[in-house]
Formats: sequence, C-alpha cells, structure tokens
Amino acid sequence: MNAGPRVVALTGAGISAESGVPTFRGPGSLWERYRPEELATPEAFARDPTRVWAWYAWRRERIARAEPNPAHRTLAEMEAALPSFILITQNVDGLHQRAGSRRVIELHGNLWRVRCVQEGRTWEDDRVPLPEIPPRCPACGALLRPDVVWFGEPLPPVAWRQALEAAQQAEIFLVIGTSGIVEPAASLSRLARAHGARIIEFNIEETPLTSLADEVWRGPVGETLPRWWHAFQDRP
Ligand code: APR
Repeated sequence: MNAGPRVVALTGAGISAESGVPTFRGPGSLWERYRPEELATPEAFARDPTRVWAWYAWRRERIARAEPNPAHRTLAEMEAALPSFILITQNVDGLHQRAGSRRVIELHGNLWRVRCVQEGRTWEDDRVPLPEIPPRCPACGALLRPDVVWFGEPLPPVAWRQALEAAQQAEIFLVIGTSGIVEPAASLSRLARAHGARIIEFNIEETPLTSLADEVWRGPVGETLPRWWHAFQDRP
C-alpha cells in the first residue's frame, strides 16, 4: 500500500481553544490575565511553589472538564491512516492522547505528569483536585513540580531531536493553532520548508508563519482540519 506523503503536524494552544481550554495569547488568553514570569518560570516556582501549583491545579480542573474536539480526533485518524504520520505538540493538556493519538512528541511536557524536584523521577498524576498544594513526593517528601517546560528551561532533548528529524523529513507540514512566536518550536516550520516541505497553516488569524505557508486554511481548526483531511483522502 502506498504509504502516501510524509505528513507532520505541529500543534499549539489554538487546537484546544474549541475544547474550552484558554490559549496563551489573544483575547481572553492566559497571558492577558496572568504574568508568565510569575507562574511559568523556575524562579517563580522557587519563590512561591504554592502559587504556581494553585495555577496548575486550576488549569488541570479546567482541562479535566474539557473534551477533545474534531481537530484532535482528526489528527488521531491521520495517525491511524498514515504510517509515517508524526504529531508534534507544544500543548501540555493531554487532549491529543485523550483523542486517541499515540505517537505524540511533547515539546513542552505534560501537566498530567509530575516530577520530583529531588529525584527527577516523573510519573502520571491525574488527581483533580489535588489533595494538597503543593504536592510532595511520596518517596522522599520533596516538592513535586508539573513536568512541563517553563520559560528559560531547555526542551526535553529526545523530544526536540525527534521534532527536528520529523521537520526535516516532512513532505507536508501542518502548522495548527500556534502563534508561531515561541522558539525553538516556531523554527520547525522554517526548517521543514527549507527541506522542501509544503507548509499548510490552520489558524483563525495571520501569524508570523503565514508568509511561509503554501496554503492557509483560515477559520476554526475544528472545522478546517477535518475539511482538509477529507479533501486529502479524496485526492487523486
Ligand atoms: N482555530 C485555529 N486557531 C486558533 C483558534 C481556533 N479555534 N483559536 C485560537 N487560535 C490560534 C490563535 O490565533 C493563535 O495564533 O491559536 C494560536 C494560539 O497561540 P498561543 O496562545 O500563543 O499558543 P501557542 O502558539 O501554542 O504558544 C506557544 O507559548 O506560553 C507558551 O508554553 C506555552 O506552548 C505555549 C507556547
């Protein structure tokens, strides 16, 4: 069976917006109401772990009530249909996995995983609400932190290497619901294009990546991505 072109998708917070999960930038977004340097940096956590965990506990409760939307489900369908399909996400909400995606490269970690600041061990923890804030390691009693990448921290090396390889091998690179501002994730689209990929952007508005795109599907991604996928499947 023809495996079809190598399709790679990069998603951002916009894909979860239609599930009711707030984005980081734009009207009603998280950074419009909170200061990232107070909540999403290692210094903020060292200064006030209780405050940082209160914010993540609030996000966990909101996300636990959210459901994957048709865009998440379309990407899970693509993974099942295209053996070489690769999904790279900047999101930490776990909605791709809840939609059925199994091969997910998480560039910024996952807020449903916790990490012992002492031992470095990580494990899944989906308790909502958390029994105590800030949670502590059951083994050593040290603080637990969300297993996410904060501003000023490096991306997980394995995930980043996998994302670089995927971007270089892509023949079609879907840029979905991201403002294309935060590096190094934003550079993946430029890398894919430099290696000859066709760039297709799915967003409700123009971004710094729009000028790179060979094709733009303007509108809510819960509508545009399923339409694109159906057209792709019906291609000659
Ligand atoms: N359909 C398509 N696109 C949408 C929709 C929608 N329904 N709603 C919003 N968008 C778009 C916005 O226009 C914007 O371009 O999604 C993008 C969301 O941008 P951000 O909120 O900046 O999210 P993201 O690009 O994922 O941010 C990257 O920044 O704060 C850090 O770690 C955080 O992973 C995050 C990173």
